Amino acid sequence: MKRTRCPALYKEYHLDRGDERVDLFRKLVRKYGIRSALYPGSFVHIAPSFVIPRTVHVDSFREAKTFFADSNTLAYIVQRKEYDEEPHIGFYGSDYNDPFGEEPESFDLLISSYAGFVSPPCKRYLRLGGLLVANDSHGDASMAFLDPDFELIAVANRRGEKFTISETELERYFIPKRAVTVTPQLLRETGKGVAYTKRASSYIFRKIA
Ligand SMILES: C[S@@+](CC[C@H](N)C(=O)[O-])C[C@H]1O[C@@H](n2cnc3c(N)ncnc32)[C@H](O)[C@@H]1O
Repeated sequence: MKRTRCPALYKEYHLDRGDERVDLFRKLVRKYGIRSALYPGSFVHIAPSFVIPRTVHVDSFREAKTFFADSNTLAYIVQRKEYDEEPHIGFYGSDYNDPFGEEPESFDLLISSYAGFVSPPCKRYLRLGGLLVANDSHGDASMAFLDPDFELIAVANRRGEKFTISETELERYFIPKRAVTVTPQLLRETGKGVAYTKRASSYIFRKIA
C-alpha cells in the first residue's frame, strides 16, 4: 500500500518535536470509552483522530483551514488510525466563542490544550457525563476546577510520549502556593494559570450539570 507523507505542519509542530501526545488520547479512550471529541483551538494537532473515530476541530487561524482542506491530512489520519471504521473529521475555521454547527451535548470529550479559555463557551457541546481534558497552560484547567458544572475525576502525567492517568489523591491538586483567592476574573486577567503546590500535565473533569 502506498504510504501517505506526513502533512508538513503536523510534522513540524508535532512529529519532529516528539509532541504528538497520542498516548494521552489512547489512554482516555481505553479508560473511559471515548468515541467522539471536540477540539477547539486544535491548530494542526490531529493526534486525537488517530484513536477517536469522530473529531471536530475549531480554529480561526488561516493555516489551520488550509491544513484541514488538504486531502493529504485525511489520508494521513486513515494511515495512522487505530480503530476499524472510517474517520469522521470536522473542521470549523471560526472563533470557538461563536456558535458553530454542532449539536449541544453531542461529544464524549472536550479538549482544551494551549488555546485559551475553551471550557466556558464549549462545554455546551459536551454531553452530560462527558469529559473535559485540559491543561493549565492558559488557566483553563483552573477555570474548570472553579466551575460547578465540572468535577475533577483524574489527572494525566507525562513522561516523554507516554501518559499515565491517575484517579487518586486528587485533593492534592489546585492548592495555590501563595495566599491568593483564585477566581475566574483573576484567571482571565493573568491568562496563564496559578502556581500550585502540585501540578499535573493535564486534568480530567466530568461534566456533572
Ligand atoms: C498554541 S496553539 C495550540 C495547538 C494545539 N491545541 C496543541 O495543543 O498543540 C493555539 C491555537 O488556538 C487557536 N485559538 C486560540 N483562540 C481561539 C479562538 N478564540 N477561536 C479559535 N481558535 C483559537 C489559535 O488559532 C491557535 O491555532
